[in-house]
Amino acid sequence: MQKQSIIKGFSKLSREEKIRLVIERRNLGEQFEADLNRYLHPQQQSLFNDISENTVSNYYLPFSLAPNFLINDKLYILPMVIEESSVVAAASKAAAFWANNGGFKTRVINTLKNGQIFFKWDGNLKDLEAKKVKLVTLLLEVTKEATSNMRARGGGIVGFEFKTIDDMEHTHQLLVKFKTANSMGANFINTCLEQMSTPLVDFINNDNELNQQGKAEHVMSILSNYTPECVVECKVSCPIEALLPYSGTFSPKEFAHRFKTAVDIATNDPYRAVTHNKGIFNGIDALILATGNDFRAVEAGAQAYASRSGQYRSLTSIELTDNEFIYTLKLPLAIGTVGGLTNIHPMVKSAMELLGKPSAEELMQIVASAGMANNYSAISALVTTGIQKGHMQLHLTNILTSLDATEKEKAKAMIQFANQAVSYSAVQSFLKACRN
Ligand code: MEV
Repeated sequence: MQKQSIIKGFSKLSREEKIRLVIERRNLGEQFEADLNRYLHPQQQSLFNDISENTVSNYYLPFSLAPNFLINDKLYILPMVIEESSVVAAASKAAAFWANNGGFKTRVINTLKNGQIFFKWDGNLKDLEAKKVKLVTLLLEVTKEATSNMRARGGGIVGFEFKTIDDMEHTHQLLVKFKTANSMGANFINTCLEQMSTPLVDFINNDNELNQQGKAEHVMSILSNYTPECVVECKVSCPIEALLPYSGTFSPKEFAHRFKTAVDIATNDPYRAVTHNKGIFNGIDALILATGNDFRAVEAGAQAYASRSGQYRSLTSIELTDNEFIYTLKLPLAIGTVGGLTNIHPMVKSAMELLGKPSAEELMQIVASAGMANNYSAISALVTTGIQKGHMQLHLTNILTSLDATEKEKAKAMIQFANQAVSYSAVQSFLKACRN
C-alpha cells in the first residue's frame, strides 16, 4: 500500500479546502460533498462551527418527546435524543404506566464533586496533614476570586483530603470537594485546581520541617468524573396486582418474581449487569444529549459506581413484599443546567424550556426517571415476551428507509410484518416482490 504523507495545518484550511483534500485523499465521490452541504444549517452554521474544531457539516439525530413522566407529582414531557428506535416508545409506555401508579419518586442524595491534585513527595503525609488548617487557608485564599461567583450561588470548595495513591508510596493526591450549584462545573473545578497546584507544592517546599523530607513535585490536576457523592435515587412502587398490564401470560405475582430474578441476576452476574445498565443508559443518555450535558462523563462515572463493591453490578435493586413491588435506581449524575452547551445549542435551549428550566438537582431527578422507565420496560419485556417483537417492528421502519421504500411500500410492509418476523433479508425480499 502506498504510504500517504501526514496532513499538515488541516485546521487552517477553509471548509471547502478541507473537503477537497479529504475527497482526494479518500477517493470519495461528489456525493460525499453533496451530503455534507445538504446538512449545513442555512442560518446558524457559524454557531455549530464554533462548537468543535474542523466542522464541515452537521450530524443529525432525532429529537423526540416522551410524555407523561410524573416525577414527584409533577408532570413532565421529556426531550430525548437517541438513535435506537425503541427507546422513546419504551420510555413513554413505562412513563404512562407509572403515572397511573404513583409516578417516579426521586431524591438527590448529595451533590459533591471531586477534583484531584497529584504530587510526588518522599515525606510523611501525616506531617503535611498536621499543617492542613494553614494550607487550606492558603488554598482558599488563592482561589478566592475564581470561587466568588460560585460561592454567591451556594457552591464553592467544601473540603480537602490527602491520600497516597495505592501501591505508589511517594505519589499522593489532594482530593478537593466542590459544590457547583447549577453548573456541571468542569471548567470551574479545573480552574481552581490549577490555581491551587503550585501553592500546594510551594507550601511543602518552603516549609522547613516538610522540605527536609524531600522536594514536592506537582504531577497534574484535574476534576474526577467519579462522583460517588453526587448521587440521585429514583423509586417506583405499586401493589403487585397493578402490574397486570405488563405481566403478559403470567400472573402479576409471577411477573413480579420473574422481574426480581432478572434484577438479582444483573446484581450478581457482570455480563448481564452491563446489558442491564445499558438499558438504563438508553434513557439517561437520551436526556443527557438533549440537555447538552457530557454523556462521556456521566457514563464513565456511573459505570465506575456500578463497580463500587469490587464487582460490576446492576444500578437498580428490587424489593418484593407480599403485595408490593418496589424498584429503585441509584446512580451518580454530575450534570448541569447552566454553562457549556446549555447556553449555546438552540435545541438544548428548547429542551430546557420543555422541562421548565430545571435546576441541576431537578434535572438529575428527571434523568434518573428516564433511566428507570427504560429499564423497567426492558426487564418487563425480557421476562415476558422478549424484546425482539417490539424492537423489530420499530426496526422495520429503519430497514425500509435504508432500502429507499416509498410511503406506499412502507404502509404495505407494516401490514405484512405485523405477523411476520422482521429481518433485513425478509424486508428486502418483500420489497423486491412489491416492485416486481
Ligand atoms: C437494548 O438497547 C437494551 C436492553 O438490552 C436492556 C436489557 O437487556 O436490560 C434490552
